[in-house]
Amino acid sequence: MEQSTLGERRKPAVFITGAGGEVGHGLISSLSREGNLDIVATDLRDVEQTLREQCSETYLADVCDRDALDRLLAMYQVKEIYHLAAVLSTRAELAPEVAHQVNVNGTVNILQIAAEQGRMYGEPVKVVFPSSIAAYGFGSLTQKTEVGAVSEYEHCKPSTMYGCNKLYCEHLGRYYAHSYRQLAQDSVQGKDKNRGVVDFRCVRYPGLISAETVPTGGTSDFVPEMIHAAARGEKYKCFVREDTRIPFMTMPEAIDATLQLAAASRHDLTQIVYNIASFSPSAGEVAQLVKTYFPGADITFEPDERRQAIVDSWPEFLDCSVATNDWGFKPTYTLEQAFEDYLVPRIIKQYESIL
Ligand code: SER
Repeated sequence: MEQSTLGERRKPAVFITGAGGEVGHGLISSLSREGNLDIVATDLRDVEQTLREQCSETYLADVCDRDALDRLLAMYQVKEIYHLAAVLSTRAELAPEVAHQVNVNGTVNILQIAAEQGRMYGEPVKVVFPSSIAAYGFGSLTQKTEVGAVSEYEHCKPSTMYGCNKLYCEHLGRYYAHSYRQLAQDSVQGKDKNRGVVDFRCVRYPGLISAETVPTGGTSDFVPEMIHAAARGEKYKCFVREDTRIPFMTMPEAIDATLQLAAASRHDLTQIVYNIASFSPSAGEVAQLVKTYFPGADITFEPDERRQAIVDSWPEFLDCSVATNDWGFKPTYTLEQAFEDYLVPRIIKQYESIL
C-alpha cells in the first residue's frame, strides 16, 4: 500500500473502463495473467462472470458520471488506466450527441482523475487510450486509393462523430500530458505540480477481428461478422463492396500491442499516437478465404451507401513504422496466418459446443 501526500493509504490498481467490450475481454485476461496490480473494472452493463473472476472488483458505472467514478476509486491508487469505453462509429451516427457525451466527456473525466491521482501521489498515472482509423478522413475514394499508407498526422479530417471524438481526445491526452493548467497558480510558483502527472499513450486501432466475440456498432464490423456468420452456418449480406479495403488485425495482436506500448519506456516514445495494423485485405479477399475454410458459406455483397461512404473515407493502409521503431511493434500474422493459426481453430471450437 502506498501513502498519498494527504496521508491516505490506498490499494494500487489498474482501472479499466468499458471492460465488458471486445477489447476488455482480451485485455483483462492478459493483465490478470501478468498479475502485477489489482484490476478494477467498470462497464455500463454487467460484466460476465468469467471476466469478473479475473478482476479484483467490477462495478456498474457510467464514464460520464464523475461522482460515481470518484466514489468507486476512493479506495485505490490508480497507477494505470485503460479507457476502453466508447460508442463506435455506426452507432455514433445514430445518436451523435450521445456519442460525444460518452466519447469526449467520459474521456475528460478519466484524464482529470488521472491528473488528480498523479498529483496526489507525485507520480505519473499512465492512461492508455485506444483511438481508431476513424480519426482519418479522405474526401474521395480516388484520393484514398492514390495515397496508400498514411502516417499518424496526415489526412486527419474525420467524417464521423466517432472519428472527430477520437481525434479530439488524442489532442486532449496530449494537453493533459504536456500543458495541463499551464497558467494556474500551482504551475507558475516554484515546482510545477501538474507537469507530467498524466502519461498519455494512444494506439490507433484498425478494424479488429476476434474469434471469441462479435463487435457491435462499428463500421469495420463487416469482416468479423462475415467470418462468424460462416462459422455459424448463417447467410451474410456484406454492407460494403467487394473491393473495399481497410486495415485490420486480430484481437490478440491488438491486446499485445497495447500492452507493449503501455510497458515501453517513456524515453523511447517520440509520439503520443501510434498507428498499428497487420493486414489490409479487400472485403472480397476475406470472403474468398472464408469460403476455403467454410465451403458452404453464403456471402453476398449488398452495399449500404452510407456505411460504405464511411469506410471509403478510411485509409487502405497504415504506416506503422514509428510504432516499430519506438517500441517494437510487429504484426504476428498475415491474413492467411490469422485464419489458419488463430481465427478458424478458435471459432470452430467456440461454436462446436452450441451448434
Ligand atoms: N472498429 C471501429 C468502428 O468501426 C473503427 O475503429 O467504429
